[in-house]
Amino acid sequence: MVDVLGQYHRYQDEIDSAVLEVVRSGKYINGPYVARFERAMESYLGVKHAIACASGTDALQLALMAIEIKPGDEVITTPFTFAATAETIVLLGGVPVYVDIDPETFNMDVEQIESKITPRTRAIVPVHLFGQPANMTRINEIAHKHGLVVIEDAAQAVGAKWEGKMVCGIGDMAAISFYPSKNLGAFGDAGMVTTNDDKLAHAVRTIANHGSERAYYHDRLGVNSRLDAIQAAILNVKLQYLDEWNEARAAAARMYTSIFSEYPALLRTPSVDSRATPIWHQYSVMLSGPREALAAHLKSAGVPFNIYYPVPLHLQKAYGDGKLGDFPHTEHAASHILSLPMHSELTSEDVAYIAGEVIAGLLIAHD
Ligand SMILES: Cc1ncc(COP(=O)(O)O)c(C=O)c1O
Repeated sequence: MVDVLGQYHRYQDEIDSAVLEVVRSGKYINGPYVARFERAMESYLGVKHAIACASGTDALQLALMAIEIKPGDEVITTPFTFAATAETIVLLGGVPVYVDIDPETFNMDVEQIESKITPRTRAIVPVHLFGQPANMTRINEIAHKHGLVVIEDAAQAVGAKWEGKMVCGIGDMAAISFYPSKNLGAFGDAGMVTTNDDKLAHAVRTIANHGSERAYYHDRLGVNSRLDAIQAAILNVKLQYLDEWNEARAAAARMYTSIFSEYPALLRTPSVDSRATPIWHQYSVMLSGPREALAAHLKSAGVPFNIYYPVPLHLQKAYGDGKLGDFPHTEHAASHILSLPMHSELTSEDVAYIAGEVIAGLLIAHD
């Protein structure tokens, strides 16, 4: 699905020397390399504060802790996302309140949000799924009207834009993941919280360091979520190429779409909102028929694929007490979606081969 080694080999000298520099510096956690990466991300995203932490999951948790989510507080989000979006809410005693997705973009259907607001609602967590921004204009409008905090789950969307503005600085806070397979991936776990709010930034930084502003004095409950300097140094090198890689992904997406558009009866290509500039973290198609026959064909042709996500969060025992039928668009997507290889190292021959096998597999299943 991704070619992390292929990408590494292209930039091996630069990355190796950045890692060696950290090893020889003796400064392994936070420190100058992490600070340099934070400032670089602030400038890339056009955001006032970027606070590095240990993972995207931690970034969500830190953001929720910074706004002091308490047991029983409700947080409105989507059931069609990676587990961490709801896991962190539940971990703090909060209640994820789901709204169905827009079947075109797979992102939250913003028009359903207001009907889910109660006196216990504290925040909205939109997810920019597969690298396509959620409708932040409408989400911010609703949040301002009802006094709610907006935390963007931008784990999959670093570099994406909504109405020409980089995500991560549109809501009150954002959570980023640098998991190795992300568009900007570290060589291990890594994450970041961004915000334009000085107080929230201070809270996040303090919470990530055991709630401590001064060594061995702890005024609030915190966690240990710091970034390794080696990861920061790697990310600093890779950040320079992110736009180029995202453009390579966009070119692959355009090619997939132009091939698949010839077969509207078999599958639907991803729709892009006219206000969004996605970064194609995933290229996910919706199949008209059953998925199993295509999956078997792709396996035999050696074409990787994945299902993001087979079980919506309202149907997961750990963080939902929902039932089948609660969110029809989400459930339909979960059972008909299929994601194809998408990364910066794909050649046009790769895309043509993969797309050809997808069509062949669908035609076999169709007959
Ligand atoms: C939407 C979403 N949120 C949160 C996360 C969590 O990030 P991490 O794996 O860095 O903890 C991910 C990671 O896959 C994600 O896709």
